[in-house]
Amino acid sequence: MEKVELIWMNGDFLPWDEAKVHVLSHGLHYGTGVFEGIRCYETERGPAVFRLQDHLERLEKSAELYYLEMPHGAERLREATKELIRRNGLRSCYIRPLVFRGYGEMGLYAPSAPIETVIAVWPWGAYLGEEGKGKGVRAKVSSWRRISPQSAIPHAKASGQYLNSILAKTESAKAGYEEAILLDERGFVCEGSGENIFVIRDGEILTPPHAASILDGINRKSVIQIARDLGYSVIEREIARAELYLADEVFLTGTAAELVPVREIDDHDLGEPGEITRVIQARFEDALAGRAEEYLEWLDFVGEPTAPEPPEPATAEVEAEEVGEPTSGRLNP
Ligand SMILES: Cc1ncc(COP(=O)(O)O)c(C=O)c1O
Repeated sequence: MEKVELIWMNGDFLPWDEAKVHVLSHGLHYGTGVFEGIRCYETERGPAVFRLQDHLERLEKSAELYYLEMPHGAERLREATKELIRRNGLRSCYIRPLVFRGYGEMGLYAPSAPIETVIAVWPWGAYLGEEGKGKGVRAKVSSWRRISPQSAIPHAKASGQYLNSILAKTESAKAGYEEAILLDERGFVCEGSGENIFVIRDGEILTPPHAASILDGINRKSVIQIARDLGYSVIEREIARAELYLADEVFLTGTAAELVPVREIDDHDLGEPGEITRVIQARFEDALAGRAEEYLEWLDFVGEPTAPEPPEPATAEVEAEEVGEPTSGRLNP
């Protein structure tokens, strides 16, 4: 990953390499953390974060579902995120807020282990590749089922739960596919390992409902609204596995991946990305880049990057200047 200058940690802006935790941090052992994945885009009006408030509200809900009391509220994290992007001089980036149980108490019930908060930002290109966004990706239905609501909380974006996504993603990668599609515990289509899924059949856009153990994706919500605004019918309903193979078009949505067409599932060819996918993808990308007036309210403008401090002149060079010796080029105007 590409390093930047600063990470925000528990209220302070720390140099990237100094944002550290103790090896006995609770979250490291048990996955007791909640997080978000957010993106900031370069727009004509400067850098802007896509649906920052919605992401931070989901972070608060995830924390509440796992009994983690957040020391900093959404508004504080919103300001910290924007300042962090400015101070790192970034115009576009991925944003990762993380709230987790830190060091102080072990065992499964550890209410006195402190809650730590981190926000990191870094440049990160398309998760499934630019080619994937253009031509579509190959996906495999995973042998792993999405976590059941009877044993965890699919609605929460919680660190430990991602072992489920990692198993599915690893299985698909080792089998030579770019992404995994998970079924829910009942065998209905659920989502990708880090994306929601949309299936187009006979001109209708289908997507699994909340009861299918999905994460309530921010991009899913955005794409549903965009599709309906464009006049398409979007239906939230259970989707059978075979409908993936019978689909006219399939696409995935998520912050890291953005909107990615799927061109093949379990070696059933779906063909080049279809027209409905293309139309919605173009409108969605306009919304992300601030080119769609009606969706400007989704963008939280960051302000221009803070100019980096001019470097301090080195002592030896200053002394050389004072005694009238030739100075280095860097100190000369
Ligand atoms: C498991 C899972 N489902 C769906 C999504 C898509 O959510 P969003 O659109 O909010 O990024 C993500 C990404 O955060 C995810 O990790």
